[in-house]
Amino acid sequence: MQTVTTLESLRQAVESLRKHGRLALVPTMGALHEGHLTLVREAKKHADAVVVSIFVNPTQFGPNEDLDAYPRQLEADSRLLEAEGVALLWAPTVAAMYPQGFATSISVSGVSEGLCGTARPGHFDGVATVVCKLFNQVMPDVALFGEKDWQQLAVIRRMARDLDLTRPHVDAIIGVPTVREADGLAMSSRNAYLSSENRAAAAALPREMRSAIEALENGSAVAPTLAALEAHLLQSGFASVDYAQLTDAASLVPLTALGDAPARLLVAARIGTTRLIDNMAVAGID
Ligand code: PAF
Repeated sequence: MQTVTTLESLRQAVESLRKHGRLALVPTMGALHEGHLTLVREAKKHADAVVVSIFVNPTQFGPNEDLDAYPRQLEADSRLLEAEGVALLWAPTVAAMYPQGFATSISVSGVSEGLCGTARPGHFDGVATVVCKLFNQVMPDVALFGEKDWQQLAVIRRMARDLDLTRPHVDAIIGVPTVREADGLAMSSRNAYLSSENRAAAAALPREMRSAIEALENGSAVAPTLAALEAHLLQSGFASVDYAQLTDAASLVPLTALGDAPARLLVAARIGTTRLIDNMAVAGID
């Protein structure tokens, strides 16, 4: 595996890889876990060579968020990627990604609003901008993202379609199902922040989401089911619930009743000082 840290060396490496076939990009912020490695394994099915980027993107963190504390472990991450047969690791510095005077931002309206867009103002502008740059830098044939960040995936798909990022075009942005721990908790680099007590209590999130989904699919009304979900999370040790919403799976428009289109239950909740997010499919009614 080759590791590059400058745009010039990235371009040279990408050019020579491209001669041998299709390229897949897996953008990450590092602190890799099984969820990321699943993206890499999936990427290998769609391309001849896999490029992984590791960049803790400052523009997607709010002023009171965990940018400084975010885990950084480039050496350990490199070893994991090497073992997975990744061809190229793109690990730019902040100065390489955002040179002096950088003044451009991409803002995707609609799907960026509400949910995490409300709780984390500016977050999706930061994500859209860096992902657009990564697409332009690597020009992959296909790019893979975890479905755990469902709203992020919707934002990236919208941006790719709107800005004619034809390589990867919108159909080549692949969402990969969330990888979960044995107790159901979605894998996340931020799980490392949880104390052992909070880690045990955090399993209530997927558990309570599954029972809310079962209730919805059995005909329970949406508003009281979501209210009960919030109450159960608070009783299980969560400090607060940012949102628990049923939305249209593609547009993320909030739903007050299940229809025939695919729906999604999305939740963000805080336990200790850690904010966890999760989402799951809800079957529509025929
Ligand atoms: O999901 C992430 O790790 C990040 O938001 C991403 C897509 C790599 C952009 O910084």
